[in-house]
Amino acid sequence: MPDIASSLVTKDTQLAPIPIELVTTNDLEQRPENEVNWAKANGFKAKAGTLCLLAELDGALSKILMGVGDNMPVASDPWWLAAAQEKLAPGVYEIINAPDDATLKAGAYGWAVASYQFDRYLSEPVDDPAVLMLPADIDRGAILQEANATALVRDLVNTPTDDLGPAELQDAVEALAEEFDGSCSTIVGEDLLDENFPAIHAVGRAAAEGREPRLVDLKWGDENDPKITLVGKGVCYDTGGLDIKTGGFMRLMKKDMGGAANAIGLARLIMMNGLKVRLRLLIPAVENAIAGNAYRPGDIIATRKGLSVEVCNTDAEGRIVLCDALALACEEKPALLLDFATLTGAARVALGPDLPATYTNDDAVWAALEAGSKKVGDPLWRMPLWAPYDESLTSPIADVCNISDSPMGGSITAGLYLQRFVEDDIKWVHVDLFSWNPKQRPGRPKGGEAQAIRAAYSAIDQILSLDE
Ligand code: BES
Ligand code: ZN
Ligand code: ZN
Repeated sequence: MPDIASSLVTKDTQLAPIPIELVTTNDLEQRPENEVNWAKANGFKAKAGTLCLLAELDGALSKILMGVGDNMPVASDPWWLAAAQEKLAPGVYEIINAPDDATLKAGAYGWAVASYQFDRYLSEPVDDPAVLMLPADIDRGAILQEANATALVRDLVNTPTDDLGPAELQDAVEALAEEFDGSCSTIVGEDLLDENFPAIHAVGRAAAEGREPRLVDLKWGDENDPKITLVGKGVCYDTGGLDIKTGGFMRLMKKDMGGAANAIGLARLIMMNGLKVRLRLLIPAVENAIAGNAYRPGDIIATRKGLSVEVCNTDAEGRIVLCDALALACEEKPALLLDFATLTGAARVALGPDLPATYTNDDAVWAALEAGSKKVGDPLWRMPLWAPYDESLTSPIADVCNISDSPMGGSITAGLYLQRFVEDDIKWVHVDLFSWNPKQRPGRPKGGEAQAIRAAYSAIDQILSLDE
């Protein structure tokens, strides 16, 4: 991967950066006449993200005007500088009139992740990224921590299943435990039955040798600190199982471990910053594969919580693996339980790719999350755990069916299914996300994407203070 850390430097007198001046549409007219003329000749109207390069008489770049549209950028927009990063040639640049440090920091995050490229399978090396020089008093390290967490999520999601199956997902968590001195244990294959995780086993048992289902369990921090547990759906590939998906719907299903990837990214942020919490990260990692021993529509499976589940559709597998992990999480009564999952197509129909459908049983937790989300420009949208729909999960022959009896409200009923496995007195957040950019935008290449983790990270202190 290109080293995104090299896209940001702190002020260094040895380097002579090219200045970038931010220009609103109004400001443009007030500039020196030669600049106004040059801008006109180049069709530069200071639209957001556009650039106008100014040169010395000898042709060297002297300054860059960057259009910002009608208003100067704000700290809640991480993407205002990303288009510039992508357009500029390799070199060192400096913003000379950022409105404030917080806005510059947000832009620097967007700049850093704009330099991300998934080049693992490319034969040709990619260009060095343009470099942004930051004032000495800006915490470059903190910006890079967030950017690195995002890059990690993108890498995990972008990596095809052949190179990122359940075993490799386990490796990623173990690498994290090692880096931050945490502990990690994993229950694999038939041992899942002995340790009472029958649902995870049922979904993952049809995968090939070496790709057995597993539950990865990382712990980090002081046992006496407030417990935060993150759970991530780690379906490394979702064929749909025997209820097989058709081609178009299967095409992107290497990304069905996007929940796990985001949980890993958030865990990294928490550990990297040494938050005063006892962190637990639970990743049920499986392939929803097809073979003679695959679980079938009509099977009734046991779960850790003791509820029997009628498998009404093998393609609603995420909630089945999550329910065992959530039940385990609740056993130690964490102060906050947060799960991430690419759980339903219905969430995307409702909210599109960019807005993770967010459910919680606690209004104060939502208030904190919403504030965090708005502050850092990492969008979330609250959806209801609408109790009257719960009966649609009724099975005549088991405690619950894994899908509802109606095609409507599919993200809500998936959330209600999960809620049956979460203890009522635990603050719980469920994020149904896409983890993917369907098209390229500044700072956001087509492919895997981190969602909700910067919002969650910025809300953690506030959420934990609710119990004080
Ligand atoms: N992994 C999918 C959900 C998904 C699909 C997420 C497309 C993002 C994009 C999940 O396992 C699934 O297949 N869900 C089914 C549930 C249905 C069978 C009730 C769905 O959403 O169609
Ligand atoms: Zn599925
Ligand atoms: Zn799935």
